[in-house]
Amino acid sequence: MLNVEEIRKDFPILDKRVHGKKLVYFDNAATTHKPRQVIDAIVEFYTKYNANVHRGFHALSQEASELYEEAHEIIAKFINAFSWDEVVFCYNTTDAMNIVAYSWGLKNVEEGDEIILTVMDHHSTMLPWRRVAELKGAKVKYVDIDSEGLIDYAGLEEKVTERTKVIVFPVMSNVLGTINDVKRIVRIARKVDAIVVADGAQSVPHMPTNVRDLGIDFLGFSGHKMLGPTGIGVLWGRRDRLEEMMPFKVGGDTIKDVTLDSVVWHDLPWRFEAGTPNIAGAIGLAEAAKYLMKIGMENVRQHEVELVEYTFKRIESLRTEIQVYGTRSTRYRGGVIAFNIKGLNHHTVGKALDLFGIAVRTGMHCAHPLHYRLGLKGSVRASYYIYNTLEEIDYFVETLSKIISLREVLKKQPVEEVCTGT
Ligand code: ALA
Repeated sequence: MLNVEEIRKDFPILDKRVHGKKLVYFDNAATTHKPRQVIDAIVEFYTKYNANVHRGFHALSQEASELYEEAHEIIAKFINAFSWDEVVFCYNTTDAMNIVAYSWGLKNVEEGDEIILTVMDHHSTMLPWRRVAELKGAKVKYVDIDSEGLIDYAGLEEKVTERTKVIVFPVMSNVLGTINDVKRIVRIARKVDAIVVADGAQSVPHMPTNVRDLGIDFLGFSGHKMLGPTGIGVLWGRRDRLEEMMPFKVGGDTIKDVTLDSVVWHDLPWRFEAGTPNIAGAIGLAEAAKYLMKIGMENVRQHEVELVEYTFKRIESLRTEIQVYGTRSTRYRGGVIAFNIKGLNHHTVGKALDLFGIAVRTGMHCAHPLHYRLGLKGSVRASYYIYNTLEEIDYFVETLSKIISLREVLKKQPVEEVCTGT
Protein backbone atom coordinates (compact mmCIF):
# COMPACT_ATOMS: atom_id res chain seq x y z
CA MET A 1 0.00 0.00 0.00
CA LEU A 2 1.16 3.50 -0.70
CA ASN A 3 1.51 6.10 2.00
CA VAL A 4 -0.06 8.78 -0.17
CA GLU A 5 0.03 11.41 2.53
CA GLU A 6 3.82 11.05 2.82
CA ILE A 7 4.25 10.88 -0.96
CA ARG A 8 2.31 14.11 -1.43
CA LYS A 9 4.81 15.96 0.78
CA ASP A 10 7.47 15.29 -1.87
CA PHE A 11 5.54 17.22 -4.55
CA PRO A 12 5.74 20.98 -3.95
CA ILE A 13 3.29 21.80 -6.77
CA LEU A 14 0.46 19.95 -5.05
CA ASP A 15 0.19 22.85 -2.59
CA LYS A 16 -0.80 25.15 -5.44
CA ARG A 17 -4.25 26.66 -5.55
CA VAL A 18 -6.06 27.03 -8.87
CA HIS A 19 -8.90 29.56 -9.18
CA GLY A 20 -8.80 29.74 -5.38
CA LYS A 21 -9.31 25.97 -5.07
CA LYS A 22 -6.94 23.23 -4.00
CA LEU A 23 -5.35 21.71 -7.10
CA VAL A 24 -6.64 18.26 -7.99
CA TYR A 25 -4.32 17.01 -10.70
CA PHE A 26 -5.87 14.31 -12.85
CA ASP A 27 -3.86 14.89 -16.03
CA ASN A 28 -1.08 12.42 -15.35
CA ALA A 29 -1.34 10.62 -18.67
CA ALA A 30 -0.25 13.91 -20.28
CA THR A 31 2.53 14.60 -17.79
CA THR A 32 3.18 13.96 -14.12
CA HIS A 33 4.52 16.23 -11.43
CA LYS A 34 8.07 15.98 -10.14
CA PRO A 35 9.08 15.12 -6.59
CA ARG A 36 11.60 17.21 -4.72
CA GLN A 37 14.16 14.39 -5.12
CA VAL A 38 14.08 14.73 -8.92
CA ILE A 39 14.17 18.53 -8.82
CA ASP A 40 17.10 18.39 -6.37
CA ALA A 41 19.06 15.91 -8.52
CA ILE A 42 18.80 18.27 -11.49
CA VAL A 43 19.82 21.31 -9.43
CA GLU A 44 22.71 19.33 -7.96
CA PHE A 45 23.93 18.37 -11.43
CA TYR A 46 23.98 21.97 -12.60
CA THR A 47 25.53 23.26 -9.40
CA LYS A 48 28.13 20.52 -8.83
CA TYR A 49 28.89 18.44 -11.92
CA ASN A 50 27.88 20.39 -14.99
CA ALA A 51 30.06 19.47 -17.98
CA ASN A 52 29.65 17.76 -21.31
CA VAL A 53 29.88 13.96 -21.34
CA HIS A 54 32.36 11.77 -23.21
CA ARG A 55 34.28 14.79 -24.41
CA GLY A 56 36.94 15.61 -21.90
CA PHE A 57 39.47 14.21 -19.50
CA HIS A 58 38.93 16.96 -16.96
CA ALA A 59 37.40 16.04 -13.62
CA LEU A 60 33.99 17.59 -14.21
CA SER A 61 33.51 15.86 -17.52
CA GLN A 62 34.48 12.55 -15.93
CA GLU A 63 31.97 13.05 -13.12
CA ALA A 64 29.21 14.06 -15.51
CA SER A 65 29.98 11.07 -17.74
CA GLU A 66 29.84 8.69 -14.79
CA LEU A 67 26.47 10.05 -13.66
CA TYR A 68 25.11 9.89 -17.20
CA GLU A 69 26.26 6.29 -17.65
CA GLU A 70 24.90 5.34 -14.25
CA ALA A 71 21.53 6.74 -15.36
CA HIS A 72 21.48 4.09 -18.12
CA GLU A 73 22.14 1.41 -15.51
CA ILE A 74 19.32 2.61 -13.27
CA ILE A 75 16.83 2.61 -16.14
CA ALA A 76 18.02 -0.85 -17.20
CA LYS A 77 17.28 -2.06 -13.68
CA PHE A 78 13.88 -0.34 -13.70
CA ILE A 79 12.72 -2.27 -16.78
CA ASN A 80 14.86 -5.37 -16.10
CA ALA A 81 16.92 -5.04 -19.27
CA PHE A 82 19.73 -7.54 -19.78
CA SER A 83 22.30 -4.79 -19.87
CA TRP A 84 22.66 -1.00 -19.47
CA ASP A 85 23.81 -0.57 -23.09
CA GLU A 86 20.41 -1.65 -24.43
CA VAL A 87 19.05 1.62 -23.00
CA VAL A 88 19.15 4.50 -25.47
CA PHE A 89 18.29 7.95 -24.16
CA CYS A 90 16.24 10.08 -26.52
CA TYR A 91 13.67 12.88 -26.15
CA ASN A 92 10.44 11.02 -25.46
CA THR A 93 8.24 8.17 -26.72
CA THR A 94 7.65 9.89 -30.04
CA ASP A 95 11.39 10.15 -30.57
CA ALA A 96 11.94 6.51 -29.54
CA MET A 97 9.32 5.37 -32.03
CA ASN A 98 10.85 7.49 -34.78
CA ILE A 99 14.30 6.05 -34.07
CA VAL A 100 13.02 2.48 -34.48
CA ALA A 101 10.93 3.32 -37.53
CA TYR A 102 13.73 5.14 -39.34
CA SER A 103 16.64 3.00 -38.18
CA TRP A 104 15.13 -0.49 -38.19
CA GLY A 105 12.08 0.06 -40.39
CA LEU A 106 13.72 1.77 -43.35
CA LYS A 107 16.42 -0.89 -43.42
CA ASN A 108 14.22 -3.95 -43.06
CA VAL A 109 10.76 -3.15 -44.46
CA GLU A 110 10.43 -3.77 -48.19
CA GLU A 111 7.83 -3.00 -50.83
CA GLY A 112 4.74 -5.18 -50.30
CA ASP A 113 5.59 -5.93 -46.65
CA GLU A 114 3.01 -5.28 -43.97
CA ILE A 115 3.08 -3.15 -40.85
CA ILE A 116 0.34 -3.84 -38.31
CA LEU A 117 -0.87 -1.00 -36.12
CA THR A 118 -3.92 -0.77 -33.87
CA VAL A 119 -6.80 1.72 -33.88
CA MET A 120 -5.90 2.55 -30.28
CA ASP A 121 -2.38 3.74 -31.15
CA HIS A 122 -1.65 7.34 -30.37
CA HIS A 123 -0.09 9.47 -33.06
CA SER A 124 3.45 9.03 -31.72
CA THR A 125 3.44 5.36 -32.60
CA MET A 126 1.14 5.39 -35.58
CA LEU A 127 2.67 8.15 -37.69
CA PRO A 128 6.34 7.08 -37.83
CA TRP A 129 5.31 3.66 -39.15
CA ARG A 130 2.88 5.12 -41.65
CA ARG A 131 5.79 7.17 -42.92
CA VAL A 132 7.92 4.03 -43.28
CA ALA A 133 5.06 2.41 -45.22
CA GLU A 134 4.83 5.44 -47.54
CA LEU A 135 8.57 5.55 -48.13
CA LYS A 136 8.98 1.81 -48.69
CA GLY A 137 5.70 0.97 -50.45
CA ALA A 138 4.58 -1.24 -47.57
CA LYS A 139 1.00 -1.84 -46.51
CA VAL A 140 -0.48 -0.69 -43.18
CA LYS A 141 -3.13 -2.87 -41.56
CA TYR A 142 -5.08 -1.78 -38.48
CA VAL A 143 -6.23 -4.09 -35.72
CA ASP A 144 -9.60 -3.13 -34.31
CA ILE A 145 -10.88 -3.12 -30.72
CA ASP A 146 -13.85 -5.03 -29.34
CA SER A 147 -16.87 -3.54 -27.56
CA GLU A 148 -14.93 -3.51 -24.25
CA GLY A 149 -12.04 -1.57 -25.76
CA LEU A 150 -9.70 -4.55 -25.78
CA ILE A 151 -7.58 -5.45 -28.81
CA ASP A 152 -9.35 -7.81 -31.17
CA TYR A 153 -6.80 -10.59 -30.88
CA ALA A 154 -8.62 -12.90 -33.29
CA GLY A 155 -8.60 -10.05 -35.82
CA LEU A 156 -4.88 -9.61 -35.25
CA GLU A 157 -4.23 -13.31 -35.93
CA GLU A 158 -6.18 -13.05 -39.16
CA LYS A 159 -4.28 -9.96 -40.29
CA VAL A 160 -0.81 -11.41 -39.76
CA THR A 161 0.73 -13.00 -42.84
CA GLU A 162 4.17 -14.05 -44.02
CA ARG A 163 4.62 -10.44 -45.24
CA THR A 164 4.10 -8.96 -41.78
CA LYS A 165 7.33 -7.35 -40.65
CA VAL A 166 6.27 -5.29 -37.66
CA ILE A 167 3.49 -5.20 -35.08
CA VAL A 168 3.20 -1.94 -33.15
CA PHE A 169 0.83 -1.31 -30.23
CA PRO A 170 0.51 0.55 -26.93
CA VAL A 171 1.00 -1.59 -23.82
CA MET A 172 -1.65 0.67 -22.26
CA SER A 173 -4.06 2.87 -24.20
CA ASN A 174 -3.84 6.55 -23.28
CA VAL A 175 -7.61 6.94 -23.79
CA LEU A 176 -9.31 3.67 -22.91
CA GLY A 177 -6.73 2.69 -20.33
CA THR A 178 -6.75 -0.82 -21.81
CA ILE A 179 -3.79 -2.94 -20.75
CA ASN A 180 -2.96 -5.15 -23.68
CA ASP A 181 -1.77 -8.74 -23.56
CA VAL A 182 1.80 -8.22 -24.68
CA LYS A 183 2.85 -11.85 -24.54
CA ARG A 184 -0.11 -12.91 -26.64
CA ILE A 185 0.84 -10.34 -29.29
CA VAL A 186 4.46 -11.52 -29.18
CA ARG A 187 3.33 -15.14 -29.73
CA ILE A 188 1.30 -14.08 -32.76
CA ALA A 189 4.22 -12.06 -34.15
CA ARG A 190 6.75 -14.86 -33.69
CA LYS A 191 4.75 -17.21 -35.90
CA VAL A 192 5.81 -15.08 -38.87
CA ASP A 193 9.07 -13.64 -37.47
CA ALA A 194 7.63 -10.15 -37.23
CA ILE A 195 9.19 -7.76 -34.73
CA VAL A 196 7.16 -6.31 -31.85
CA VAL A 197 7.41 -2.61 -31.05
CA ALA A 198 5.71 -1.70 -27.78
CA ASP A 199 4.71 1.82 -26.84
CA GLY A 200 5.25 2.02 -23.11
CA ALA A 201 4.34 5.70 -22.67
CA GLN A 202 1.40 4.90 -20.40
CA SER A 203 2.41 1.52 -19.01
CA VAL A 204 6.00 1.97 -17.86
CA PRO A 205 5.12 4.75 -15.36
CA HIS A 206 2.18 2.83 -13.90
CA MET A 207 2.97 -0.88 -13.68
CA PRO A 208 5.97 -3.19 -13.42
CA THR A 209 7.85 -3.61 -16.70
CA ASN A 210 10.08 -6.59 -17.34
CA VAL A 211 11.42 -6.49 -20.88
CA ARG A 212 13.19 -9.83 -20.49
CA ASP A 213 9.94 -11.53 -19.65
CA LEU A 214 7.76 -9.76 -22.23
CA GLY A 215 9.74 -11.01 -25.19
CA ILE A 216 9.30 -7.80 -27.22
CA ASP A 217 11.91 -6.29 -29.52
CA PHE A 218 11.59 -2.58 -28.73
CA LEU A 219 9.99 -0.43 -26.05
CA GLY A 220 9.72 3.35 -25.93
CA PHE A 221 8.68 5.57 -23.02
CA SER A 222 8.90 9.15 -21.77
CA GLY A 223 10.54 10.49 -18.63
CA HIS A 224 8.04 13.24 -17.97
CA LYS A 225 5.14 10.81 -17.58
CA MET A 226 6.97 8.98 -14.78
CA LEU A 227 7.99 11.84 -12.45
CA GLY A 228 11.03 12.78 -14.55
CA PRO A 229 11.74 15.94 -16.51
CA THR A 230 10.52 16.71 -20.02
CA GLY A 231 12.85 16.23 -22.99
CA ILE A 232 14.19 12.85 -21.91
CA GLY A 233 12.85 9.47 -22.98
CA VAL A 234 14.03 5.95 -23.47
CA LEU A 235 14.27 3.52 -26.31
CA TRP A 236 15.02 0.02 -25.10
CA GLY A 237 15.89 -2.55 -27.74
CA ARG A 238 16.97 -6.16 -27.77
CA ARG A 239 20.71 -6.17 -28.35
CA ASP A 240 20.59 -8.07 -31.67
CA ARG A 241 17.90 -5.71 -32.97
CA LEU A 242 19.83 -2.61 -31.93
CA GLU A 243 22.94 -4.04 -33.53
CA GLU A 244 21.21 -4.57 -36.85
CA MET A 245 19.95 -0.96 -36.90
CA MET A 246 21.56 1.79 -38.90
CA PRO A 247 21.70 5.03 -36.86
CA PHE A 248 19.43 7.56 -38.54
CA LYS A 249 20.43 10.53 -36.43
CA VAL A 250 24.18 10.80 -36.81
CA GLY A 251 26.80 13.20 -35.54
CA GLY A 252 28.81 13.76 -32.37
CA ASP A 253 29.15 10.77 -30.03
CA THR A 254 27.71 8.31 -32.57
CA ILE A 255 31.13 7.36 -33.94
CA LYS A 256 34.42 5.74 -33.00
CA ASP A 257 36.24 7.19 -35.96
CA VAL A 258 35.58 9.26 -39.04
CA THR A 259 37.76 9.95 -42.06
CA LEU A 260 36.77 11.97 -45.09
CA ASP A 261 35.30 8.88 -46.67
CA SER A 262 34.57 6.39 -43.90
CA VAL A 263 32.93 6.10 -40.51
CA VAL A 264 33.11 3.50 -37.73
CA TRP A 265 29.99 3.62 -35.59
CA HIS A 266 30.30 3.71 -31.83
CA ASP A 267 29.24 0.91 -29.48
CA LEU A 268 25.72 0.67 -28.11
CA PRO A 269 24.01 2.81 -26.99
CA TRP A 270 26.12 5.80 -28.04
CA ARG A 271 25.65 5.30 -31.76
CA PHE A 272 21.98 6.19 -31.25
CA GLU A 273 22.51 9.16 -28.93
CA ALA A 274 23.61 11.81 -31.40
CA GLY A 275 24.91 15.15 -30.17
CA THR A 276 25.25 16.44 -26.63
CA PRO A 277 22.53 14.54 -24.77
CA ASN A 278 20.08 15.79 -22.19
CA ILE A 279 22.45 14.99 -19.33
CA ALA A 280 20.50 16.70 -16.58
CA GLY A 281 17.33 15.10 -17.94
CA ALA A 282 18.84 11.61 -17.79
CA ILE A 283 20.03 12.20 -14.23
CA GLY A 284 16.57 13.49 -13.26
CA LEU A 285 14.89 10.51 -14.91
CA ALA A 286 17.18 8.08 -13.10
CA GLU A 287 16.20 9.74 -9.82
CA ALA A 288 12.53 9.36 -10.77
CA ALA A 289 13.08 5.66 -11.48
CA LYS A 290 14.79 5.25 -8.10
CA TYR A 291 11.85 6.99 -6.42
CA LEU A 292 9.36 4.65 -8.13
CA MET A 293 11.45 1.54 -7.38
CA LYS A 294 11.50 2.52 -3.72
CA ILE A 295 7.71 2.70 -3.69
CA GLY A 296 7.46 -0.50 -5.75
CA MET A 297 5.77 -0.61 -9.13
CA GLU A 298 3.35 -3.33 -7.95
CA ASN A 299 2.17 -0.88 -5.29
CA VAL A 300 1.82 1.91 -7.86
CA ARG A 301 -0.37 -0.35 -9.99
CA GLN A 302 -2.41 -1.49 -6.99
CA HIS A 303 -3.02 2.11 -5.90
CA GLU A 304 -4.35 3.02 -9.33
CA VAL A 305 -6.58 -0.06 -9.42
CA GLU A 306 -8.10 1.15 -6.16
CA LEU A 307 -8.60 4.66 -7.48
CA VAL A 308 -10.27 3.41 -10.66
CA GLU A 309 -12.52 0.98 -8.82
CA TYR A 310 -13.49 3.70 -6.38
CA THR A 311 -14.30 6.06 -9.25
CA PHE A 312 -16.52 3.47 -10.91
CA LYS A 313 -18.31 2.92 -7.62
CA ARG A 314 -18.78 6.64 -6.99
CA ILE A 315 -20.02 7.51 -10.48
CA GLU A 316 -22.51 4.64 -10.50
CA SER A 317 -25.21 7.06 -9.32
CA LEU A 318 -24.48 9.25 -12.37
CA ARG A 319 -24.48 6.37 -14.84
CA THR A 320 -27.45 7.69 -16.83
CA GLU A 321 -25.63 11.00 -17.34
CA ILE A 322 -22.06 9.91 -17.96
CA GLN A 323 -20.69 7.62 -20.60
CA VAL A 324 -17.38 6.02 -19.71
CA TYR A 325 -15.29 4.37 -22.43
CA GLY A 326 -13.38 1.13 -22.15
CA THR A 327 -13.57 -1.91 -19.96
CA ARG A 328 -14.77 -1.85 -16.36
CA SER A 329 -12.40 -4.64 -15.44
CA THR A 330 -9.32 -3.28 -13.68
CA ARG A 331 -7.51 -6.46 -14.65
CA TYR A 332 -7.27 -4.97 -18.13
CA ARG A 333 -7.39 -1.30 -17.25
CA GLY A 334 -4.92 1.21 -15.89
CA GLY A 335 -5.57 4.52 -14.12
CA VAL A 336 -7.15 6.30 -17.07
CA ILE A 337 -10.85 7.13 -17.37
CA ALA A 338 -12.14 8.83 -20.50
CA PHE A 339 -15.78 9.85 -20.50
CA ASN A 340 -18.39 12.35 -21.68
CA ILE A 341 -21.35 13.93 -19.94
CA LYS A 342 -24.43 13.54 -22.09
CA GLY A 343 -25.37 16.73 -23.89
CA LEU A 344 -22.19 18.63 -22.97
CA ASN A 345 -19.12 19.25 -25.06
CA HIS A 346 -15.93 17.74 -23.61
CA HIS A 347 -14.17 21.14 -23.57
CA THR A 348 -17.08 22.71 -21.67
CA VAL A 349 -16.79 20.00 -19.03
CA GLY A 350 -13.00 20.40 -18.85
CA LYS A 351 -13.31 24.16 -18.42
CA ALA A 352 -15.91 23.77 -15.72
CA LEU A 353 -13.76 21.24 -13.85
CA ASP A 354 -10.82 23.62 -14.09
CA LEU A 355 -12.86 26.32 -12.34
CA PHE A 356 -13.13 23.90 -9.43
CA GLY A 357 -9.35 23.32 -9.47
CA ILE A 358 -9.55 19.93 -11.21
CA ALA A 359 -7.10 19.43 -14.07
CA VAL A 360 -8.14 16.91 -16.72
CA ARG A 361 -7.38 16.65 -20.41
CA THR A 362 -10.09 17.24 -23.00
CA GLY A 363 -10.04 16.63 -26.75
CA MET A 364 -8.77 13.62 -28.62
CA HIS A 365 -5.62 13.05 -26.57
CA CYS A 366 -3.29 12.54 -29.55
CA ALA A 367 -5.51 9.64 -30.62
CA HIS A 368 -7.79 11.00 -33.33
CA PRO A 369 -8.33 7.67 -35.13
CA LEU A 370 -9.48 6.01 -31.90
CA HIS A 371 -12.00 8.79 -31.26
CA TYR A 372 -13.31 8.52 -34.82
CA ARG A 373 -13.57 4.75 -34.35
CA LEU A 374 -15.68 5.38 -31.22
CA GLY A 375 -17.77 7.96 -33.09
CA LEU A 376 -16.60 10.78 -30.81
CA LYS A 377 -15.46 14.34 -31.34
CA GLY A 378 -13.51 14.14 -28.13
CA SER A 379 -13.65 13.09 -24.52
CA VAL A 380 -12.77 14.21 -21.02
CA ARG A 381 -9.92 12.20 -19.53
CA ALA A 382 -9.05 11.80 -15.86
CA SER A 383 -5.76 10.02 -15.30
CA TYR A 384 -4.33 9.11 -11.91
CA TYR A 385 -0.98 8.67 -10.24
CA ILE A 386 0.68 7.90 -6.93
CA TYR A 387 -0.29 11.20 -5.27
CA ASN A 388 -4.01 11.03 -6.04
CA THR A 389 -6.44 10.21 -3.25
CA LEU A 390 -9.92 8.82 -2.72
CA GLU A 391 -10.93 12.21 -1.27
CA GLU A 392 -9.96 13.86 -4.55
CA ILE A 393 -12.19 11.40 -6.37
CA ASP A 394 -15.08 12.25 -4.01
CA TYR A 395 -14.60 15.92 -4.84
CA PHE A 396 -14.32 15.12 -8.56
CA VAL A 397 -17.58 13.14 -8.60
CA GLU A 398 -19.39 15.80 -6.55
CA THR A 399 -18.17 18.41 -9.05
CA LEU A 400 -19.35 16.30 -11.98
CA SER A 401 -22.72 16.14 -10.27
CA LYS A 402 -22.80 19.95 -9.99
CA ILE A 403 -21.84 20.28 -13.65
CA ILE A 404 -24.68 17.93 -14.62
CA SER A 405 -27.14 20.01 -12.59
CA LEU A 406 -25.90 23.12 -14.44
CA ARG A 407 -26.06 21.40 -17.83
CA GLU A 408 -28.74 23.65 -19.34
CA VAL A 409 -26.77 26.79 -18.45
CA LEU A 410 -23.47 25.30 -19.58
CA LYS A 411 -24.94 24.16 -22.89
CA LYS A 412 -25.45 27.83 -23.80
CA GLN A 413 -21.77 28.62 -23.29
CA PRO A 414 -19.88 29.02 -26.55
CA VAL A 415 -17.50 26.11 -27.07
CA GLU A 416 -13.99 27.11 -27.93
CA GLU A 417 -12.95 24.54 -30.49
CA VAL A 418 -9.40 24.50 -29.31
CA CYS A 419 -7.30 21.84 -30.90
CA THR A 420 -5.97 20.01 -27.86
CA GLY A 421 -5.72 16.71 -29.61
CA THR A 422 -2.53 17.34 -31.50
N1 ALA B 1 0.79 12.87 -24.28
C1 ALA B 1 -0.42 12.32 -24.77
C2 ALA B 1 -1.46 12.13 -23.71
O1 ALA B 1 -1.77 13.07 -23.03
C3 ALA B 1 -0.23 11.16 -25.60
O2 ALA B 1 -2.01 11.06 -23.59
